[in-house]
Amino acid sequence: MNDTTLEIHGCHQFDEAGSISTPIHLSATYRHPGFHQSTGYDYGRVANPTRTELEQLIAKLERGERSWALSSGMAAINMVFHTFRPGDHILLSEDLYGGTVRLANDIYTRYGVTADYVDTSDLSAVNDAIHPKTRGLFIETPSNPMMRISDICALADIAHKNNALLIVDNTFLSPHFQKPLTLGADIVVHSGTKYLCGHNDCIAGFLVVRDANSAAAKDFELLIKSEGPNLGPIDSWLMLRSIKTLGIRVERQAETSLQIAEWLRKQDAVTDVYYVGLPDHPGYALQQKQASGNGSMISFKVKSAAVAQALLGELKLICFAESLGGVESLLTYPIAQTHAEMPKELLERTGLDDRLLRFSVGLEDAADLIADLDQALQAAVKQAGKDE
Ligand SMILES: Cc1ncc(COP(=O)(O)O)c(C=O)c1O
Repeated sequence: MNDTTLEIHGCHQFDEAGSISTPIHLSATYRHPGFHQSTGYDYGRVANPTRTELEQLIAKLERGERSWALSSGMAAINMVFHTFRPGDHILLSEDLYGGTVRLANDIYTRYGVTADYVDTSDLSAVNDAIHPKTRGLFIETPSNPMMRISDICALADIAHKNNALLIVDNTFLSPHFQKPLTLGADIVVHSGTKYLCGHNDCIAGFLVVRDANSAAAKDFELLIKSEGPNLGPIDSWLMLRSIKTLGIRVERQAETSLQIAEWLRKQDAVTDVYYVGLPDHPGYALQQKQASGNGSMISFKVKSAAVAQALLGELKLICFAESLGGVESLLTYPIAQTHAEMPKELLERTGLDDRLLRFSVGLEDAADLIADLDQALQAAVKQAGKDE
């Protein structure tokens, strides 16, 4: 079945009433028909029919054997890190969501799990950095916010030869455009808050495993049942409703993004544009090989920090806010928002500085978005000129 059709119809088992929309099951607990008998649902923390429908759909979209719907993207990443033991080492992309770095550096070091960061678009750097204690290689591709592309197949190979798992945060592309488990990754995580939700109205996360019988999958089962980070039934339903339009949203958003990236690079006040849909992006060929679309995240640098900061106050349609993936376009200032707590050394290594803006292109009309960027850039240049 085509993904767009699957996104709409899901795995939906019709109830007795024949509901087209999956019902929201609010029951916290379930009546047993008799001793040693179960309907398959015993207690809401362990399983809930609305959440089960969502988990089965996400597993199918990612081509995994099992998925868990959790209360946030960070809850999903936390579950992954939670499977590591004292003495284990995690190797992460040096350019990734700041919250993941905080979790690794500020929380898991307390439990004896160490982390290092490497440019995962450079395979020889990964080969040099991986070592016998490395149990997990954790990547984002495209990376956040510099949009570097890492080779999922080659990294799965390196990870497996070193007895480690490859974990891919697939938030930026969604399963509609990229399916890391089919390329050899072992685990996919998502901030469901982004493209899967698509409307900036729900915080959610997903964990997906290629092999439901793997040690990691068994650990997830135990951890989730014991710790209870699951997604509630109302939010599960919201996600199901959102995913029905995932394909049409992300395809249109990607089309608009290409127009905006092309426009941005013609502006005098813009010095660099990072969008993987531009044919001269260094990761373009690899991206076309391993994904079926380029997504709608664009980063760009303007000529000074003063212009970047002034621009944020001049936007009229686009919202200056953190997050991404929704129908509303958002402009983020990573150095002060998503990556504010990033160690200085990583910022320097990746080139993330105070001139960089990250644009999550929404579903608005492309000409309206360009008009807003145009007026904001012109006003920002004037404003910054006055302040100098
Ligand atoms: C790529 C990526 N992964 C994970 C997360 C964390 O997700 P959540 O905010 O749903 O906890 C984010 C949040 O911005 C993100 O951008």
